[in-house]
This record gives sequence, structure tokens and C-alpha cells, in this order.
Amino acid sequence: MSVIRSMLFVPGDSEKKMAKSGSIGADALILDLEDSVAAQRRPLAREMTHAYLCQADRTRAEYWVRMNPLDSSDALLDLVAVVGARPNGIALPKCEGPHHILQLAHYLDVLEVQHGIPLGSIGITAIATETAAAPFALGQYKGAPRLRVLTWGAEDLGAALGASSNKDDAGEYTPPYVLARSLCLYGAYAAGVQALDTVQPDFRAEDKLRRECNEARRDGFLGKIAIHPAQVAVINEAFTPSVAEVAQAQAVIDIFAANPEAGTLSLNGKMLDKPHLKQAERIMQIAGRAR
Ligand code: COA
Ligand code: MG
Repeated sequence: MSVIRSMLFVPGDSEKKMAKSGSIGADALILDLEDSVAAQRRPLAREMTHAYLCQADRTRAEYWVRMNPLDSSDALLDLVAVVGARPNGIALPKCEGPHHILQLAHYLDVLEVQHGIPLGSIGITAIATETAAAPFALGQYKGAPRLRVLTWGAEDLGAALGASSNKDDAGEYTPPYVLARSLCLYGAYAAGVQALDTVQPDFRAEDKLRRECNEARRDGFLGKIAIHPAQVAVINEAFTPSVAEVAQAQAVIDIFAANPEAGTLSLNGKMLDKPHLKQAERIMQIAGRAR
């Protein structure tokens, strides 16, 4: 399955933004039925999202839908409205643990059978740090059915904690949000799913976005959420291994292959051992799977 470098949110009730979204170059789009849509427009958004999915060109991007939280009266209405249009996956907000994934997976089982969609084909992205309870479950997602992506959110978490801000005076996340980010990263790797970094809401601040992308990639995230078309190219570039990185990774793989008895080797004056080989193999895997 492809790595999702960029996942662009598109409000599910905006004809203009939906029409534009397929040509922006995002690896995946998330048509939103939750926070970016006013409650009274949700019925319309469900219809528009269904219609849009039915005619979308699936060769260019993956098409996901963000539903409303499982404990809301909107949740089942969202799923019943969109599953028949075969989204690649469902993004679940306010996810509090693997029990929520299991509940959603059961709903999807029924709806896939009803619509003649191959069982298990619709994936799940968990937005897994949006309530006070959610971060405590981040180590428990291993084996959760259909789960492909684990991501985090700082806006709803700040609201859940009664925070006056989630950033300090220098514009950096304060410790509660740094913790959520780190636990999301650990949780994704522990579960064997893709770690996706959260949104940068300040969509005109390109330098800041680039820095956040580079820091996320450095730490092990494989992509980032976008909310504005201008963010997509920056994100795609940052999460695509460069020619130099691929060449370096290949050199590491080659030198180990040429020295099968060696546990540790040197390359250009630097020590190499098992973790370096593992990282090189990961870079080749990402480079091969990026679109
Ligand atoms: N997807 C597709 N197209 C988008 C888009 C998006 N997320 N955001 C903006 N566009 C389009 C606009 O319609 C506009 O099109 P035009 O040139 O044909 O007029 C163009 O890109 C430039 O947009 P701009 O004027 O810079 O932004 P805006 O003020 O119209 O919108 C936001 C700003 C933040 C409201 C908008 O980007 C947005 O809705 N983002 C998604 C929000 C969301 O889903 N949030 C929930 C998850 S956190
Ligand atoms: Mg939200």
C-alpha cells in the first residue's frame, strides 16, 4: 500500500473546494463531515460527498471521509451515506482507543457486505489524541482491524483540556502537545501503521510548515495533514526521500550485502551497524512506495 505523504482536508459541503481538490497533488483527500461543516449543513454535505466520491478519479489520489465521532448521532448517518461510494478509508475523530476502531470496523463490515464491497477494503485513520483520555490508549493499537494511519490533533485536545493556548510565546507546542505527538509516533510504530503528523493551521507560513515537516520526517512521521492547497507541494517534497538519501541508503545496503559476515562496517568515515541497515531499508521502501 502507498505511503500517504500528504492528506488534504476538504470541507464536504464546499462544491468549489471539492471540484479543485483532485488536481492539487495530495496523495489523499479527506472529505470532511465533522468540524469544518456546520451542523445544519451535514445532511447536504453527506449527499455532496457521496456524489463527489462516485465520480472521483481514483488513479490520482486516495479519497477518505472524516466522519463525526462515534458517540454522536451523526456517526451512523455519515457512514450510511458515504460507504456505498467506496471511499478508500474513514478518518475517525476523537478516537479513544482500539475499542473505537473495533466498533467502527464492525459498522464497516456490515456496510461493505450491504454494498457488495470487498470485506475489509475500507481503511481507518485514527485521529487519536483529541480527548483527555485518548493519549493513554496510544500504545494499544497493535492488531486493531483496518487501521492504516495514526495521527494526532492539538486543537481539539487544547479545547478538551481547557487550555488558553497549545503554543508558547515562541509559537512552539507546549509540553502536553509535544507528549501527544511523541506518543502518537510511538503508538503508530508499535502498531505497525503509518504515523501522520498533524496540521499546521497557519497556512500562509510556508517556512514554518517546511520546518515542521522536516522535524516530523526526522522523527519518523511519514507524512502530514494539509488544510490548504498551498501546503501540499511542500509536504510532498519534505516526505519524499531525496536522490542523495536514496543513494546513501543504497550504499549502506550494498556494503552490508558485500560483507555478509560483518556486524559493523565503516562507510565514508562513519560507523555502520544493524540500525543503520534497518533505516536504509526503510528509506528504500518509502522511496519505492511513494507515488
Ligand atoms: N481544498 C481544496 N481547495 C481549497 C482548499 C481545500 N482545503 N482550501 C482552499 N481551497 C481553494 C479555495 O477555494 C480557493 O480557490 P479559488 O482560487 O478557485 O478561489 C483557493 O484554494 C485559495 O484559497 P484561499 O483563498 O487561500 O483560502 P480560503 O480563505 O478560501 O480558505 C480555509 C481557507 C482554511 C477556510 C480553507 O483552506 C479550508 O477550508 N481548509 C480546510 C479546512 C478543514 O477542512 N478543516 C478541518 C480539518 S482541521
Ligand atoms: Mg476537530
